[in-house]
Amino acid sequence: MTVVIGGGSGFVGSHLVRLLRDNGFKTLIVSRSPGPGRITWSNLSKDGLPEGCTAVVSMAGEQFLNPLRRWTDEFKKTVWSSRVETTKALANAVAEADKPPKVFVSMSGVAYYEPHPTMEYTEECSKGGDYDFLSRLTVAWEKAASVPTEKNVRHVVVRSGVVLGRESGMIQQIYLPFFLGLGGRIGSGQQWFPWIHVQDIAGIFAYAIMNDHVTGILNGVAPQTATNLDFTKTFAGELRRPAVFPVPGFVFNWVYGEERAKVILEGQKVIPKRTLELGYKFVYPDLKSACNECSKFSPSKPEQKM
Ligand SMILES: NC(=O)c1ccc[n+]([C@@H]2O[C@H](COP(=O)([O-])OP(=O)(O)OC[C@H]3O[C@@H](n4cnc5c(N)ncnc54)[C@H](OP(=O)(O)O)[C@@H]3O)[C@@H](O)[C@H]2O)c1
Repeated sequence: MTVVIGGGSGFVGSHLVRLLRDNGFKTLIVSRSPGPGRITWSNLSKDGLPEGCTAVVSMAGEQFLNPLRRWTDEFKKTVWSSRVETTKALANAVAEADKPPKVFVSMSGVAYYEPHPTMEYTEECSKGGDYDFLSRLTVAWEKAASVPTEKNVRHVVVRSGVVLGRESGMIQQIYLPFFLGLGGRIGSGQQWFPWIHVQDIAGIFAYAIMNDHVTGILNGVAPQTATNLDFTKTFAGELRRPAVFPVPGFVFNWVYGEERAKVILEGQKVIPKRTLELGYKFVYPDLKSACNECSKFSPSKPEQKM
């Protein structure tokens, strides 16, 4: 029972690898760099999937909210191809396998849904994907994951919100300012903040791999919806610090460029309707428990049996 994971060396991927191993699976990471437990993308295109591969996961992608990288055409191309081309390579390997895996689970993002102050988006909403660069990227990313239906491979797409976890991503960037009492809301703070704890996004992927009834689109967000202000107050509260220094929107527009800063300054209210209906049980369904875990100095690594 081997699961092949494109991008499995990253923040979410390393949680998924641990979770799958705790549940009796072997894992093989597809990476740009060779190493133990890894193959490279060129190995994959040359040799295909290994024997005994029961599931394939696609979650590679260049971090686009990197303040050190300017939002140039060249960087946008990297952001695009690091998701679309890697997903295509995995989909091709799945389609060409003599004995295809049972399931292919691929990552996408809530950027598919257009930011709106009142609209609620479940997986059933098909009115997304064509309003800016990132939304068009989610469409191309999801399309890249298609495998011919005659191959009988179960297909799941997870549209992830902002992933919260102590070791990386947003929490790692804001931990120190919040710890020093220098945190605050972003812009008006009224924008929706679609979030999920890293243990749950990894949990949803593992659940999709292990359960034959799971197919189609799943929203990878927690059941409790929140605004940026809700998050700011809750995270600062769990750190027992004030959060009275709002950061004006223009700072983010200046650092990231307007197109990219929109991800932070505007948000979507996303509901994990199908994820819950299909039976996934969240470890951190509410902001308080997730922020409490993220506020700890050393992250907890509880064993999560699926
Ligand atoms: N973290 C979030 O808040 C969040 C939210 C929504 C969606 N997502 C998506 O979920 C996926 C996993 O997120 P993550 O936070 O775990 O990502 P991550 O740690 O930043 O990166 C995942 C992996 O992608 C590979 N990668 C990075 N740049 C690449 C490039 N230019 N070309 C090919 N591969 C590249 C790297 O693997 P190697 O170095 O081994 O090649 C890396 O370990 C990403 O696709 C991300 O877009 C994340």
